[in-house]
Amino acid sequence: MFLGCYSHFVNNKIDVKVFKMKIFTGVAGVAVAASMIFSQAAVADGATLFNAKGCAGCHGKAAMGAVGPRLAGQQEKYLVGQFKLIRDGKRTSGMSGVMAGAVKSVTDADIAEIAKHLSSME
Ligand code: HEC
Repeated sequence: MFLGCYSHFVNNKIDVKVFKMKIFTGVAGVAVAASMIFSQAAVADGATLFNAKGCAGCHGKAAMGAVGPRLAGQQEKYLVGQFKLIRDGKRTSGMSGVMAGAVKSVTDADIAEIAKHLSSME
Protein backbone atom coordinates (compact mmCIF):
# COMPACT_ATOMS: atom_id res chain seq x y z
CA MET A 1 0.00 0.00 0.00
CA PHE A 2 2.82 2.37 0.92
CA LEU A 3 4.79 1.46 -2.18
CA GLY A 4 1.72 2.17 -4.28
CA CYS A 5 1.40 5.63 -2.75
CA TYR A 6 5.10 6.25 -3.11
CA SER A 7 5.21 5.49 -6.83
CA HIS A 8 2.17 7.69 -7.24
CA PHE A 9 4.02 10.55 -5.53
CA VAL A 10 7.20 9.96 -7.54
CA ASN A 11 5.18 10.41 -10.69
CA ASN A 12 3.97 13.76 -9.50
CA LYS A 13 6.56 16.24 -8.24
CA ILE A 14 4.06 18.52 -6.53
CA ASP A 15 2.66 15.60 -4.56
CA VAL A 16 6.17 14.62 -3.51
CA LYS A 17 6.72 18.10 -2.10
CA VAL A 18 3.43 17.98 -0.23
CA PHE A 19 4.30 14.50 1.01
CA LYS A 20 7.68 15.73 2.33
CA MET A 21 6.09 18.72 3.99
CA LYS A 22 3.58 16.49 5.69
CA ILE A 23 6.36 14.31 7.06
CA PHE A 24 8.22 17.41 8.28
CA THR A 25 5.15 18.90 9.98
CA GLY A 26 4.40 15.48 11.42
CA VAL A 27 7.86 15.16 12.95
CA ALA A 28 7.83 18.74 14.23
CA GLY A 29 4.38 18.17 15.71
CA VAL A 30 5.51 15.05 17.55
CA ALA A 31 8.55 16.91 18.91
CA VAL A 32 6.39 19.77 20.21
CA ALA A 33 3.85 17.36 21.69
CA ALA A 34 6.62 15.36 23.40
CA SER A 35 8.21 18.45 24.93
CA MET A 36 4.80 19.57 26.19
CA ILE A 37 4.17 16.21 27.81
CA PHE A 38 7.57 16.25 29.52
CA SER A 39 7.32 19.80 30.83
CA GLN A 40 3.78 19.17 32.05
CA ALA A 41 4.83 16.01 33.85
CA ALA A 42 7.57 17.90 35.70
CA VAL A 43 5.15 20.58 36.87
CA ALA A 44 2.21 18.27 37.53
CA ASP A 45 4.12 16.20 40.07
CA GLY A 46 3.99 18.69 42.95
CA ALA A 47 0.43 19.65 42.08
CA THR A 48 -0.66 16.01 42.01
CA LEU A 49 1.01 15.32 45.35
CA PHE A 50 -0.59 18.41 46.88
CA ASN A 51 -3.99 16.85 46.16
CA ALA A 52 -3.05 13.20 46.70
CA LYS A 53 -1.46 13.82 50.10
CA GLY A 54 -4.46 15.76 51.38
CA CYS A 55 -2.84 19.21 51.58
CA ALA A 56 -5.58 20.70 49.41
CA GLY A 57 -8.21 19.56 51.89
CA CYS A 58 -6.87 21.89 54.59
CA HIS A 59 -4.98 24.54 52.63
CA GLY A 60 -7.53 24.92 49.83
CA LYS A 61 -7.52 23.65 46.25
CA ALA A 62 -5.52 26.66 45.04
CA ALA A 63 -3.43 26.70 48.27
CA MET A 64 -4.92 30.08 49.15
CA GLY A 65 -5.71 29.00 52.70
CA ALA A 66 -8.65 27.34 54.47
CA VAL A 67 -8.20 25.45 57.75
CA GLY A 68 -4.44 25.93 57.25
CA PRO A 69 -2.76 29.12 56.03
CA ARG A 70 -2.09 30.17 52.45
CA LEU A 71 0.91 28.36 50.93
CA ALA A 72 0.72 29.60 47.31
CA GLY A 73 3.66 31.82 46.44
CA GLN A 74 5.46 31.16 49.73
CA GLN A 75 9.24 30.65 49.58
CA GLU A 76 10.27 27.10 48.74
CA LYS A 77 12.85 26.84 51.55
CA TYR A 78 10.40 28.16 54.12
CA LEU A 79 7.72 25.68 53.04
CA VAL A 80 10.07 22.69 53.24
CA GLY A 81 11.50 23.83 56.59
CA GLN A 82 8.16 24.52 58.28
CA PHE A 83 6.60 21.41 56.81
CA LYS A 84 9.29 19.15 58.28
CA LEU A 85 9.10 20.88 61.68
CA ILE A 86 5.35 20.25 61.80
CA ARG A 87 5.50 16.70 60.43
CA ASP A 88 8.27 15.74 62.84
CA GLY A 89 6.47 17.25 65.83
CA LYS A 90 8.99 20.05 66.39
CA ARG A 91 6.57 22.87 65.66
CA THR A 92 3.56 22.47 67.91
CA SER A 93 2.20 26.03 67.97
CA GLY A 94 -1.41 26.81 67.11
CA MET A 95 -3.07 24.03 65.15
CA SER A 96 0.17 22.34 64.00
CA GLY A 97 -0.89 19.16 65.75
CA VAL A 98 -3.95 18.86 63.51
CA MET A 99 -1.69 18.78 60.46
CA ALA A 100 1.10 16.65 61.94
CA GLY A 101 -1.21 13.67 62.32
CA ALA A 102 -2.35 13.91 58.71
CA VAL A 103 1.03 14.18 56.97
CA LYS A 104 3.12 11.43 58.56
CA SER A 105 3.40 9.53 55.26
CA VAL A 106 4.71 12.53 53.28
CA THR A 107 8.39 11.94 52.50
CA ASP A 108 11.19 14.51 52.13
CA ALA A 109 11.12 13.87 48.36
CA ASP A 110 7.35 14.51 48.29
CA ILE A 111 7.60 17.81 50.15
CA ALA A 112 10.47 18.94 47.90
CA GLU A 113 8.20 18.53 44.86
CA ILE A 114 5.17 20.04 46.57
CA ALA A 115 7.14 23.08 47.78
CA LYS A 116 8.60 23.66 44.32
CA HIS A 117 5.06 23.67 42.94
CA LEU A 118 3.64 25.94 45.65
CA SER A 119 6.42 28.52 45.41
CA SER A 120 5.89 28.74 41.65
CA MET A 121 2.24 29.73 42.17
CA GLU A 122 1.06 33.34 42.24
C1 HEC B 1 -5.65 18.43 58.67
C2 HEC B 1 -5.37 19.69 58.02
C3 HEC B 1 -4.04 19.88 57.30
C4 HEC B 1 -3.47 19.08 56.35
C5 HEC B 1 -4.00 17.76 55.79
C6 HEC B 1 -2.26 19.74 55.94
N1 HEC B 1 -2.09 20.89 56.63
FE1 HEC B 1 -0.50 22.15 56.50
N2 HEC B 1 -1.24 23.24 58.05
C7 HEC B 1 -2.45 23.05 58.66
C8 HEC B 1 -2.63 24.03 59.72
C9 HEC B 1 -3.85 24.16 60.63
C10 HEC B 1 -1.45 24.83 59.72
C11 HEC B 1 -1.12 26.00 60.66
C12 HEC B 1 -0.44 25.44 61.89
C13 HEC B 1 -0.32 26.49 62.96
O1 HEC B 1 -1.36 26.91 63.50
O2 HEC B 1 0.83 26.88 63.27
C14 HEC B 1 -0.60 24.31 58.65
C15 HEC B 1 0.64 24.82 58.32
C16 HEC B 1 1.40 24.42 57.26
C17 HEC B 1 2.66 25.01 56.85
C18 HEC B 1 3.35 26.18 57.53
C19 HEC B 1 2.80 27.45 56.91
C20 HEC B 1 3.33 28.71 57.54
O3 HEC B 1 2.94 29.77 57.04
O4 HEC B 1 4.11 28.67 58.48
C21 HEC B 1 3.08 24.35 55.74
C22 HEC B 1 4.34 24.62 54.95
C23 HEC B 1 2.09 23.33 55.45
N3 HEC B 1 1.09 23.41 56.40
C24 HEC B 1 2.16 22.47 54.39
C25 HEC B 1 1.30 21.40 54.20
C26 HEC B 1 1.45 20.44 53.15
C27 HEC B 1 2.52 20.48 52.08
C28 HEC B 1 0.47 19.51 53.33
C29 HEC B 1 0.24 18.24 52.53
C30 HEC B 1 1.33 17.30 52.48
C31 HEC B 1 -0.32 19.94 54.48
N4 HEC B 1 0.21 21.08 54.97
C32 HEC B 1 -1.41 19.25 54.96
C33 HEC B 1 -3.39 22.07 58.36
C34 HEC B 1 -3.16 21.02 57.48
